[in-house]
Amino acid sequence: CGIVGILGREPVAPSLVEALKRLEYRGYDSAGIATLEKGKLTRLRASGKLRNLEEKLSAAPLLGTSGIGHTRWATHGRPTETNAHPHTSGGLAVVHNGIIENFRELREELTGKGHVFATETDSEVVAHLVAEERGKGAAPREAVAATLARLDGAFALAFLFEGEEDLLIGARRGAPLAAGWGDEGVYLGSDALALAPFARQIAYLEEGDHVVLTRENITFYDAAGKEAERRRQPLQPGSFLVDKGNYRHFMAKEIHEQPEVVGRTLSHYLDLSAGEVRLPFALPFDPKKLSRVTISACGTAFYAGLIARYWIERHARLAVDIDIASEFRYREAPLAENGLMIVVSQSGETADTLAALRYAKAQGQHILSIVNVETSTIARESDTVALTLAGPEIGVASTKAFTCQLAVFASLAIALGRARGVLSEADEKRLVRELAATPGQMAAALAREAKVEPVARDVARASSVLYLGRGGAYPLALEGALKLKELSYIHAEGYAAGELKHGPIALIDYAMPVIVLAPPDATLEKTVSNLQEVAARGGHLILIGSAAAREAAAAELAGFIELPEIAGAFAPLVYAVPVQLLAYHVAVFMGKDVDQPRNLAKSVTVE
Ligand code: G6P
Repeated sequence: CGIVGILGREPVAPSLVEALKRLEYRGYDSAGIATLEKGKLTRLRASGKLRNLEEKLSAAPLLGTSGIGHTRWATHGRPTETNAHPHTSGGLAVVHNGIIENFRELREELTGKGHVFATETDSEVVAHLVAEERGKGAAPREAVAATLARLDGAFALAFLFEGEEDLLIGARRGAPLAAGWGDEGVYLGSDALALAPFARQIAYLEEGDHVVLTRENITFYDAAGKEAERRRQPLQPGSFLVDKGNYRHFMAKEIHEQPEVVGRTLSHYLDLSAGEVRLPFALPFDPKKLSRVTISACGTAFYAGLIARYWIERHARLAVDIDIASEFRYREAPLAENGLMIVVSQSGETADTLAALRYAKAQGQHILSIVNVETSTIARESDTVALTLAGPEIGVASTKAFTCQLAVFASLAIALGRARGVLSEADEKRLVRELAATPGQMAAALAREAKVEPVARDVARASSVLYLGRGGAYPLALEGALKLKELSYIHAEGYAAGELKHGPIALIDYAMPVIVLAPPDATLEKTVSNLQEVAARGGHLILIGSAAAREAAAAELAGFIELPEIAGAFAPLVYAVPVQLLAYHVAVFMGKDVDQPRNLAKSVTVE
């Protein structure tokens, strides 16, 4: 979910909505705002996308100059208007991002005291708790502080109080929140992106902080309730420009930006004239003493890590353990001394990934994070931050962040190999040359977009699709299946091509397209044999590969997306492009909501 709060001079509803638009990537199944008009709370909420709320607002504008707003991704309670935030009780309104874990006990207790609950959400207890404290005579900040002490879970909150036109209170525990200073007012928001059009300076709340805003002053309090200084940083409006350019969807724009942003990221990590890797940070440990690497992440970022495992093991001769963060954090894995933990996250806010980081930190691991948002919580809690310079990614399905993560991982694998003395200078030069060639090859892959469309029309008729690959193309098969599922709602599965004969081969019939990813690496021949196994059973084959792979396949294909002949080491960067384009065009062809698929959120700040 995303939250925002404004104390302005003019009516704040239009600005609240604009900030919420920038937060829609955090969830978009319902939205709402509340303002104070002549000291009285006015509230408007709507289920579905933000435009539903906008329509309601244009019919019945809210006129207050103090307000809070919310865009929701449902955890407890269906995404109905009733369950939409802000929630109110006893003359106050609250918006909440995260989960209140002990809400059932609290709800029972409050119901016992006569509070009547209007929603199925966990968030509503916060409103009632504060109202209960207010009822006992507590001032707004005291009431909030007393409430925070009773809440378990991870959350960010913003409060508005009736009769208090010059007051906003925010709180942060486990979910991000920033306060901002602007010419037209003061602000609260889940991230810098939301506040970019309004605030000139922002300061992030630290873990456990709460903050009191008036138009004149912003005062921070730490977890112990003591006044605290928080670093103000300037906000560059230009750096957060978010628009679709000439594309129909953010996702299309982001897919097409990849040669540029991967190139930009690589130029940060490689010294192209010397043909070497030059990391933009010093490694604060001795790579020769590293015992092993652990990687954890969620979703597409996890697949980037799975691909990187091949590179780190091969080029740096380091054993890699990798798991999805929601499993890793509870596995109680013993972690070796001198181990390196790498967490990967576009947003830097994914709750499970953050928890995996904290677990590894407590186990004495060195923490390196690969993130796209420099100011994010994960970045701030890491020992070393490796930035992907992808720029804001708005499409819910990750594309350019993924390939930039791969670019960083590839650079890191080479750098570790060199530092450990297991990769020769000549090999480094060759690998850097191959890596530096990927942006151009991605551009060549994008140029073949027209070839993807007929294949997409074919795939759109299927109800189930299988993706196959080996080596680095195996995680890419998983990513391809994920992209297709999330965008088109067609069931899809990724499989290691060699594992086909141990099960999924039973599924082969002409109704199920089998998409074979066959980049030119040492496993190409084996992948081609698996393709022939599918052909022999009358399968519906689609090949993504070079002309040479097409020739080797020597089978009847229902579709072929031809890619240029490239060197194999970092082929997943290039092969990601047709995989993304295919999922995109299937979804567009089927009329799906590409940028905001149903039920998903861009940044999942709950477990
Ligand atoms: C959500 C998004 C995915 C993303 C995953 C991890 O599920 O829809 O696109 O890969 O979260 O997000 P992160 O920000 O940690 O990379």
